[in-house]
Amino acid sequence: MNIVLGVSGSIAAYRAADLARELMRAGHTVRVCLTDAAQNFVSTVLFETLTGQPCLVDTFQEPIPGRMAHIDWARQADAIVIAPATANTINKIAQGIGDNMLTTLMLVTTKPVLIAPAMNPNMYLDDTVQASISLLKSRGVEFIEPTEGDVACGEHGQGKLASIPAIVAATQELLTSSDLLSGVRVLITSGPTQEPIDAVRYISNRSSGKMGAAVAKAALRLGATVTVVSGPQDAPLPLGATVVPVRTAAEMHGEVLSLAPDFDWIIGVAAVADYHVENPDPGKMRRNPDGIQLSLAPNPDIIADAARANPKATVIGFAAEPSQDPSIAQEKISRKGLFAIAANDISNSEIGFSSDNNRLNLIFADGSSVDSGVHSKFQVATWLLREIRARL
Ligand SMILES: Cc1cc2nc3c(=O)[nH]c(=O)nc-3n(C[C@H](O)[C@H](O)[C@H](O)COP(=O)(O)O)c2cc1C
Repeated sequence: MNIVLGVSGSIAAYRAADLARELMRAGHTVRVCLTDAAQNFVSTVLFETLTGQPCLVDTFQEPIPGRMAHIDWARQADAIVIAPATANTINKIAQGIGDNMLTTLMLVTTKPVLIAPAMNPNMYLDDTVQASISLLKSRGVEFIEPTEGDVACGEHGQGKLASIPAIVAATQELLTSSDLLSGVRVLITSGPTQEPIDAVRYISNRSSGKMGAAVAKAALRLGATVTVVSGPQDAPLPLGATVVPVRTAAEMHGEVLSLAPDFDWIIGVAAVADYHVENPDPGKMRRNPDGIQLSLAPNPDIIADAARANPKATVIGFAAEPSQDPSIAQEKISRKGLFAIAANDISNSEIGFSSDNNRLNLIFADGSSVDSGVHSKFQVATWLLREIRARL
């Protein structure tokens, strides 16, 4: 595998030489990217000699003329490991600043990233650093925590770079997990649907599409091939997923049923309207001082029909449940032919809908269930996919 090793300006930078060697010993090709500050501690010559690969510092350094190295390296990498990562570099990456080769590369990459911080214990506990770490974790970046001990400045506390074997093991895990769903074709429905009342008005719901986008991103990260049938949602869908845009539940139903036979997993995250307006007005309805009556007809059950259309598929339904009663979910599982139901507790205002966090109770046909705890939607999505994989 190809690993880009980022080294920033920490006193622990010298330990990156050992890390590069150990990663190579584990069979990987390692290319090192230094920050300017790192060059005060270690040199490009050291890493070029150890790895046999060019070592980059400046964004405008182009080992192959005409090929933008920051794009090239990001494309070719299977994973990026930043060790040691300074407070400054962590904060910059969290804010999307790209002012050197390493931070610019981080803006380009879609690959798994592992960050190993090393710094003075007060720096590590600094609010901005902790906020940046939380933000990056919520976007799917993995961290290996610094250990506690005597640090170079003479203080004692948490800030020492994790051990080299621990960083190598975490890198291996990062690379393995990126293969977990390799060869698995995953079909996801996402977002709300819109049911027209007339040419300008519709009935919809509060779904932002963030959870569907998170499941798509997590599935891609775990190596799956991903197609998303998406209602009109605010949350952007990840690059790498095939997106089939739809508006109404009927359109979503049609697309999902024609795609279903070609997929291994079908995950219904979309908040599909239960009803549509019968005979919507093709023009704009006039204001009626007496009020109007809308006649609503039921929409098809997309996830149940998908399970019927492809009985071999592993089908997971999402349910926004005001109650946590597992018997309701169990009844739905058997009626719809599902593998499991991921129940959101919509009575908790801190999670679900447009929130960045979620908590799922994953309920299986035999009545057993597992709880994700409250995490970012990306982390919960990764947890969900791993749980399903482990049960198959
Ligand atoms: C001797 C010395 C050791 C340093 N060690 C660390 C460190 O371990 N962690 C850290 O976050 N910053 C450390 N710094 C401060 C960083 O080098 C400084 O914030 C720099 O701007 C980081 O740049 P970079 O993130 O682009 O590498 C150290 C500075 C000096 C002078």
